[in-house]
Amino acid sequence: MTTTGALRVCVSAGEPSGDRHAAALLQALQERRPDVQVEGVGGERMAAAGASLLERIESLSAMGFAEPLTRLVGHASVLRRLRTRFLERQYDLVILVDYPGFNLQVARAAAAANIPTLYYVAPQAWAWGLGRADRLRRTVQGLAVIPEEFPVNPVPADEVSLQRGAILYGIHCQMCHGAQGHGDGPLATYFDRTPQNLTSPHVTAEFDGLVYLTLAQGFGQMPALAENLTPRERWDVVNYVRTLPFGSGE
Ligand code: HEC
Repeated sequence: MTTTGALRVCVSAGEPSGDRHAAALLQALQERRPDVQVEGVGGERMAAAGASLLERIESLSAMGFAEPLTRLVGHASVLRRLRTRFLERQYDLVILVDYPGFNLQVARAAAAANIPTLYYVAPQAWAWGLGRADRLRRTVQGLAVIPEEFPVNPVPADEVSLQRGAILYGIHCQMCHGAQGHGDGPLATYFDRTPQNLTSPHVTAEFDGLVYLTLAQGFGQMPALAENLTPRERWDVVNYVRTLPFGSGE
């Protein structure tokens, strides 16, 4: 891999779970190689982590392939555009995130353009795909299994954490999500997708780890706050948000 000039990477994620894993991967990559330039196929989380999207995952699912492990029939136009892109741009690396039905085709397109590929695959697909692994090894240069777990909250929700969380919430969240977390802060009206009611079951049912990643990477219209909050502070905010009583807001 080149050590001079920017590192140019194309990432292909085909569904929302892959989008999240790709975003986490990009963050880790950016910490090691701040010069990395990322383009690819993905969703809002990848975009929030700094990737410029050539294609959105919706354009894959809109074709009606609900089952990612089914036979490879389609996704043809997205694939055609990627193939052209590979031949034009000479990425240093193509990273495929799970979604084998589509991504194995992307891997072959990358191989045809002489671009090395890393396949970042979910444990289920890994376990399922032994018969396919041979074929895989011929096409991809690197293989890594996605850690299945989201980050686990290491900070106990004690008084100190909750106090810090409350202060940080007041500074970093309240303006949009409101004092009680109902999604009705003074800035809420500036968004066409209103800030979430953080006390709704939709959010309270999410893992701490997913909320944590949302704070770090942003989500849709919500800005990424990785530069505003240290990891410890993010967990304090997560702990605090968990204590907000349910309310329906306005
Ligand atoms: C500048 C406004 C703004 C700030 C500041 C902000 N948010 Fe948000 N947040 C949003 C918006 C808008 C959405 C909805 C995004 C969308 O659906 O596109 C959202 C969504 C969320 C979600 C839901 C994600 C999901 O999976 O549905 C969580 C959780 C969240 N915010 C937590 C927080 C916390 C905690 C803070 C403070 C550390 C914070 N936000 C700061 C605007 C903001």
